[in-house]
Amino acid sequence: MKRIFLIILFISCRLAYAGEGMWLPLFLKSINEAEMKSMGMKISAEDIYSINKGSLKDAVCQFGGGCTGEIISSQGLLLTNHHCGYSYIQGHSNLEHNYLKEGFWAKDKNEELPCSGLSIMLISRMEDVTSQVLQGVTPAMSESERKIQTDKNIVDIQKTIRKENYEDVFIRSFYNGNQFFAFVTVTYKDIRLVGTPPESIGKFGADTDNWIWPRHTGDFSIFRIYAGPDNLPATYSTSNKPYTPKHFLPVSMDGVAEGDFTMVFGFPGRTTEYLTEEGVRQITEEQNPVRIELRDRTLKIMDKYMRTSERTKLQYSARYASIANAWKKWIGENQGIKQTHGLEKKHEQDLEFQKRVDNNPAFAEYRNIINNLSALYKELRTFAVARDYYAEGFQRNVDLYNCYARVKKLQDVFEGRGEQAFDNQRIQMAKDAAILFKDIDLKIEKEIFASLLEKVVNGVDAPQRVPYMMDKMKLYHHDYKTYTNDLYAQSMLTNPDSLVVLNTLNHNEWLQKVKADPVWNFFEEMNYFIQYGIQKRATELEDQISTLRRIHMEALMKVFPERRFYPDANSTLRVTYGKVQGSTPRDGICYQAQTWLDGVMEKYVPGDYEFDVHPKLIRLYKARDYGDYGVDGKMPLAFIASNHTTGGNSGSPAIDANGNLIGLNFDRVWEGTMSDINYDPDLCRNIMVDARYILFIIDKFAGAGHLVAEMKLVHPKAKSKGKSKKK
Ligand code: ARG
Ligand code: GLU
Repeated sequence: MKRIFLIILFISCRLAYAGEGMWLPLFLKSINEAEMKSMGMKISAEDIYSINKGSLKDAVCQFGGGCTGEIISSQGLLLTNHHCGYSYIQGHSNLEHNYLKEGFWAKDKNEELPCSGLSIMLISRMEDVTSQVLQGVTPAMSESERKIQTDKNIVDIQKTIRKENYEDVFIRSFYNGNQFFAFVTVTYKDIRLVGTPPESIGKFGADTDNWIWPRHTGDFSIFRIYAGPDNLPATYSTSNKPYTPKHFLPVSMDGVAEGDFTMVFGFPGRTTEYLTEEGVRQITEEQNPVRIELRDRTLKIMDKYMRTSERTKLQYSARYASIANAWKKWIGENQGIKQTHGLEKKHEQDLEFQKRVDNNPAFAEYRNIINNLSALYKELRTFAVARDYYAEGFQRNVDLYNCYARVKKLQDVFEGRGEQAFDNQRIQMAKDAAILFKDIDLKIEKEIFASLLEKVVNGVDAPQRVPYMMDKMKLYHHDYKTYTNDLYAQSMLTNPDSLVVLNTLNHNEWLQKVKADPVWNFFEEMNYFIQYGIQKRATELEDQISTLRRIHMEALMKVFPERRFYPDANSTLRVTYGKVQGSTPRDGICYQAQTWLDGVMEKYVPGDYEFDVHPKLIRLYKARDYGDYGVDGKMPLAFIASNHTTGGNSGSPAIDANGNLIGLNFDRVWEGTMSDINYDPDLCRNIMVDARYILFIIDKFAGAGHLVAEMKLVHPKAKSKGKSKKK
């Protein structure tokens, strides 16, 4: 009895920890405001999210689809991460103006650079539309019938919901399909690059330091939103005006201290916090190991060549970084789950759930959920593992699949729109292919392909091996290298010159050549097998899992009425709050909450592509020339806090107790990356650039003080403590 009580206490405490949770702005008042105030927040829930007046939410936007940004002046000045602005900075860079290397600062608005394809989305309001979406849905419906009904309802709501003609609306499912919210949004499409530090600041530490604390990256870049004469969205035009926001964030000059309240407001992408033990096991013991192992091989091969050739490094560094980012996160995630006994915790939670359900006749319908889910996960295993092997082995890490996919797309164009469209399309594709081949080294590609092929052939369970692939292996006596060499040599798709020849043929001849091509056949056979031999059954199982996860979520909320439940991240606007706080990630290691510019100099490796330091930054450091932004002769750089963030929160504002900007979120500590599955208050920390470092770089390093002049700098601590304003 006592033990049960302790377990109950343990479970309910776990979810009451401050720090955990990505909360809906709409419900802050009812669910979170009291706690936030008890943690030190001075503003109200209405100041954060209001549809009646300008509130913090009017300063927060989704940036370029996958990141977050915030407005920091009355003239639409927009702050986000350097890694979020990266492709736009790269797009404006060339050998003459290498803005990645040198940085870029517009001296006035005329010099700001339009970024075609970039848009930002603001939220006008959100609304609970659960009852409308679920209208006509019955418990007897299968998952696909339910989906047809809810999709139809969603289309209806989108047509009838109250909105202005410049607004859009999208509807998302929350709590695994138990609730639905509509988001009325405004999207601005004229966004211009205003400033960026050089990579040696914005990407300092690059992949070696990625996910790592202590950190010294000035991961920020600055844009501006432009609007038409009515302040509404407009396509790019020189006559557009800077956007006037309903609210912008003042920037605090006072920094943070350990224990200070912080919140992060942004668009977290995806989490799975309510999995059962078996669901977590599927990720940590099946999915992650396969992905990690194949990427391990890929990265080692790339690195080997990148280290010996400057040219290779240029060709592969962007691809390397994107493969390495998730790879490193998964490794951290698995270690974190182990360290926090995540599986055991989930096991206890499942047991407690089962006990409560078994003891209450009102919950009779939930009695088999956990067991049924476990059985489904176990049956899914062989299919899910195979799918990961094929995706990682042949699609994400080598470029060969792209060679096939380009040709496949052309054939689709022919079938859908005829020979003229096919001809037009392939001219464009030939150009694209030429650009792609520029960044490909076939020697490296082949080495990766052969190495991953071996892993796939040996890792996938026998019934899930693509028969065509196995026939080839038999023919080649599992000599992966020779097979790979032949495959690349005999294909017209891997070679820019033969692609040119292919391009001269009419569709009939073209198709004959394509159909005889070994790369074409390899992937045609693979895709066919994946579709019918793997995906068909996997989809059936995953549909059943979705249904049970929805019911499980509904059950959790009824069975544990004392717990507060926040919905998993789904790329919608959320608030997370916590405190500035160091941590003790491992025995004998203590993370302090703040880093300083001194750490940049400690890490400095002259000429290194990750740890080089700009001479001007060295000069400022040596002279301690920090203007108003330093503290007692030191320059603050980054800090950590217990805010619960994930991918998509990059570029999110870190906000103090008074609603001012104190930092810019850009990462998490490695030991805490399991927070997507199992948040642990002792280990999970988000990483932010200190707002004062951003101001210092803009003003003292770049000499762009006119941008700082545009912002509203505040001294909230000086005011509250009655201290005089720092010089
Ligand atoms: N880890 C951060 C995120 O998940 C930063 C990634 C960009 N930086 C890098 N070195 N790859 O997106
Ligand atoms: N760097 C991540 C992003 O781009 C945020 C870090 C995280 O996953 O917490 O969204």
